[in-house]
Order: sequence, then C-alpha cells, then structure tokens
Amino acid sequence: GVQGFIFDLDGVLTDTAEFHYRAWQRLADEENLPFDRQANEALRGVSRRESLLKIVGDRPYSEAQLQAMMDRKNHYYVESIQDIAPTDLLPGARELLNELRQAGIKIALGSASKNARPVIEKLGIADLMDTIADGHSVERPKPAPDLFLFAANQLGLQPDQCVVVEDAAAGIEAAIAAKMLTIGLGPVKRVGAADVVLPDLEGVHWADLQAKLNAAKR
Ligand code: G6P
Ligand code: MG
Repeated sequence: GVQGFIFDLDGVLTDTAEFHYRAWQRLADEENLPFDRQANEALRGVSRRESLLKIVGDRPYSEAQLQAMMDRKNHYYVESIQDIAPTDLLPGARELLNELRQAGIKIALGSASKNARPVIEKLGIADLMDTIADGHSVERPKPAPDLFLFAANQLGLQPDQCVVVEDAAAGIEAAIAAKMLTIGLGPVKRVGAADVVLPDLEGVHWADLQAKLNAAKR
C-alpha cells in the first residue's frame, strides 16, 4: 500500500508558479525576448536552466550570458518570495499534510527549485516534511525520475509505495518514469497522464485519495 507522499511545491502547495512566471517575464522584457503567459505554460515545473533555454530558443548567447540571465531571474524571484507567509498555502494543503501525518504516511517535498527550503519555511510547513528533495538534490531535472527516486530513498521507501502530487506535465512524466502513483492537479490537458486528476487540494482527504488510487491501479 501507499506509505509515502511526495509533494511538488510550486503550483501544488503554494502559488509560487506565478512568481516564477513574473520573474521570467521581467527578464524576457528586458532582453527583448518574446514571452508571455502562453509561452510560460511550457516552463511549468521545468528547471531554471531549461526554462531559460526555452525562452532564448536558438539565439546565440554565451554561457556567461546565460548564467548572468539565470542569476538575474533568480534575483527577481528571491525578491518576490520574501513576503510569503502561511496564508499563502493553497487551500486544503495544510489539512491534507496533517491528515497524512496522522495516518502515519511519510511526507517528502519533491521540488526542482533551489529556493524550495526558504519557501516551505516561510509557509510554516518545514516541520511537516520528513525529508526535502530540492534543486540541490540531483543533477538531472524532471522529467527525469531522479528527484522523486531520491525522495523515496530518503524516506526509506520503494517507488511503488509512493504517490507524487504534481501540477506540471514534466513532473507527472518524471513520476511515471519513477514508477510511482501520480495525482495531477489542474487541467486534464496538462496533467491528464496522472492516475488521479483533481483541480486542486481543496477539500481533498486521504480516504478519498486512497479509494481513487486503488481504483486507478490495474
Ligand atoms: C520548480 C518550478 C519551476 C522552476 C524550478 C527551478 O520546478 O515549478 O518554475 O523553474 O522549480 O526553480 P529555481 O528556484 O531553482 O529557479
Ligand atoms: Mg509545480
């Protein structure tokens, strides 16, 4: 049975996805690179470097220029997360985390972000996590399974004992590659490959999830 949950952060527990978008938009505008919300869809859950590479396309930037742009975007992002508070947790997130802990389920954070730790501290949920897998944990970013396998290993669990909660196509792909059960949050168009698809975590309870995940397992 399920013994562990691995939660993505941005777009799952809090809406930092919007801050990432605004930071990229600011950078793109300054660099006169075409970018908008529509283009940002392809960046959801994607690492910092891969995100920038998608924005610059085949324009010839040097490695030093790319690095400088990543640093600048991160500076804008870090600025924007300073005021994050427990009220910025998305509806249902804290309730589900508490419920899972009470049920004896282990909980990991599985975020590609190098800023994940300060964000969950500001959200006041660091002590609800048994382990944190973040942008510093592994080399290969999602959709590679590495981050989620790292998280499962930290929890002392096998992949098939773990459920991944994700809002990004790249994240669902990574979880499937890791042979884990998946809960996709958001439109079917984005997370339709998941075993269970829900709009968000509001009103979501462990008992319902258990039933839905069991039904999804063949
Ligand atoms: C998460 C977000 C992405 C972000 C990535 C890296 O996956 O969903 O939008 O690009 O983390 O975040 P970082 O804070 O390390 O730049
Ligand atoms: Mg996400």
